[in-house]
Amino acid sequence: PAITHYDFDVTVGQRAPDCFQKDVILVNGEYHKQIEVTQGNILEVTVYNNLPATWPLVSEGISIHWHGFSMNGAEWYDGVGYLAQCPIQAGTNFTYRFQVNEEPGTYFWHGHSGNEKVDGFSGPLIVRPAGPEPFMYDEERVLYLSDNYHTSATALTFPLNRPFDAKKQTNDSGGWDWVAVPQAILLNSHGFYGDCDLLAGSNTVIPPKCNVTTQWVPPGRSKILPYASGNNPGCKRENVTVEAGKTYRIRMINAGSLAYLTVCFADHNVTIVAADAYPTNPLTVPCVDINLGQRYDVLLKADRPVGNYWLTALVVNSTRTGSPAGYGVLRYAGANESLLPWEPILQPESVPAWTFGTVSKITLPDVYLNPRTVPKGTVLPLNSSSLAPPNNTKTLLVNLTQPLLPNGQLRWALNNVATFGTPSCLPTLDLVRRNLGMMTSMAQSTQLGKIAPDMPEQQIGNALEVPTYLEDGSPSPLAPVAGQEFMLLEVGDVVDVILQNLPANANGGDYRPGVGANRTAQEQHPFHMHGHHFWVLAYGLGTFNEATNRSSFNTDNPPFRDSYTIFKNGWTAIRFKADNPGVWILHCHTDWHLFMGQKMYFATSPQLAQPPPPDLPQCPNTCLYNFGPYTRS
Ligand code: C2O
Repeated sequence: PAITHYDFDVTVGQRAPDCFQKDVILVNGEYHKQIEVTQGNILEVTVYNNLPATWPLVSEGISIHWHGFSMNGAEWYDGVGYLAQCPIQAGTNFTYRFQVNEEPGTYFWHGHSGNEKVDGFSGPLIVRPAGPEPFMYDEERVLYLSDNYHTSATALTFPLNRPFDAKKQTNDSGGWDWVAVPQAILLNSHGFYGDCDLLAGSNTVIPPKCNVTTQWVPPGRSKILPYASGNNPGCKRENVTVEAGKTYRIRMINAGSLAYLTVCFADHNVTIVAADAYPTNPLTVPCVDINLGQRYDVLLKADRPVGNYWLTALVVNSTRTGSPAGYGVLRYAGANESLLPWEPILQPESVPAWTFGTVSKITLPDVYLNPRTVPKGTVLPLNSSSLAPPNNTKTLLVNLTQPLLPNGQLRWALNNVATFGTPSCLPTLDLVRRNLGMMTSMAQSTQLGKIAPDMPEQQIGNALEVPTYLEDGSPSPLAPVAGQEFMLLEVGDVVDVILQNLPANANGGDYRPGVGANRTAQEQHPFHMHGHHFWVLAYGLGTFNEATNRSSFNTDNPPFRDSYTIFKNGWTAIRFKADNPGVWILHCHTDWHLFMGQKMYFATSPQLAQPPPPDLPQCPNTCLYNFGPYTRS
């Protein structure tokens, strides 16, 4: 097969994506570099980590994950730091090399060692078909959506490690602190943070992270002012250009850290034709809800009078105010460039404050986007791999909670285990592959210290679990732990995972002033699975009941996704085929939740995994324990 090669020269530079200048991570001098590859080719990306070793944004090295790729037979190149590889340290390089057997479509690449994605280390990844595209359109555009913080990810996560102290949570400077909302929503890496200043009218206190008084802010509240430029490189409003009469395929990607977005195309409808790269039955909508990690391919016909039309990205998932909407312009060729489409528009004032309440239901695309079932005319046949197996071999019920650990740290947990901190002497995939039985010993081993030390042996390497609730529904007296949560699978297993969103503080007691122990699960979680797409069989409000809810599972034409929303106060049932030897992570794609432990691993026949490539980056620490023999290829 042909080789598609990229060199990634990774450096730090100054950019002002939302008009506030800050340090960002660049690839070959580009912010959010786009790459593409033809299906069947070998993708080869040599990553040169030229970040300063002491640079505070990324101190632990970097790695790249190819979001949505199955990486079958390429498990060492999946890019999760300390899981598939140790990070690429400053001053070193590593070459990712694997054949791209993915469904042609829209993906993205992003850093996956720490929170380097938040600092800008991500970009669109397009897989071209070897033959014709399955949809009819004239041209294509990428709409890369992200959210932007003025503070580095390292600085943002630092307070999350402090002992939780309810008294200090409003104090930005000394104690535990939420990361809070980003300062701007970016469309194709451009946006404007000035809406922070709108808060002055509606709130008594401007959030400290919005209070950037030295920067230019708009003097008026009634409209968005023309963007500054000059010495703020990158500061501009995004124009998506179209020609009247043509049909465009717009590749929408939500690469943000926190913001679940709804993107509206003023005066236009768009037709969704693919979700997470796989073709769907077409669905025509004025706005597209797109959660973190999700991608939608939509067709837009430029059939309105020549002019400028707003592209608006609204945030739909938080009660905290502070983040403005993102605005861009759909600009027809020939439209007056100086005439911005002021009317009718969604003025910033009309943009609702972030509210969890709007995401208590499954959104349209999530419900109706079933895989395309009836190929018509010239469209390609449905990829048979997207048909759901009718039965499962294993079921895992996962309770999602936000416990307070005995050491005082606030974490997100799956079945009472916050998977937090990883062994740093070998990638976990290597540990598990070398000696599965070692998983048991690791539990007792203080040198790893990350696998919960009080786990009963038989639970390690299996559905390792501390009950979240007792039979009668009361919280388990067992303390939540920080550990490594695994489920062991064999190739051929068909696994149902019920993701159950539960009250955030089920085990940690009441840690927020004025919030009772009976409060409901307040956050939605966009879960992403590595190495697999999965079928979304069913969802519901309240607590999953095996006896009554299983009969509602849709195995005929369920959505086939790699990123999907677990709504607040509800559950979602997904099914995947364990057809990929290795260790694969399932996690919330909200970066801060991932950082706080909202993840687990599926170890699928790890003894069948390939030996690691000889040039896999070395880990920074030496193992104190003999993890058993293996031979490097
Ligand atoms: Cu895009 Cu593990 O994620």
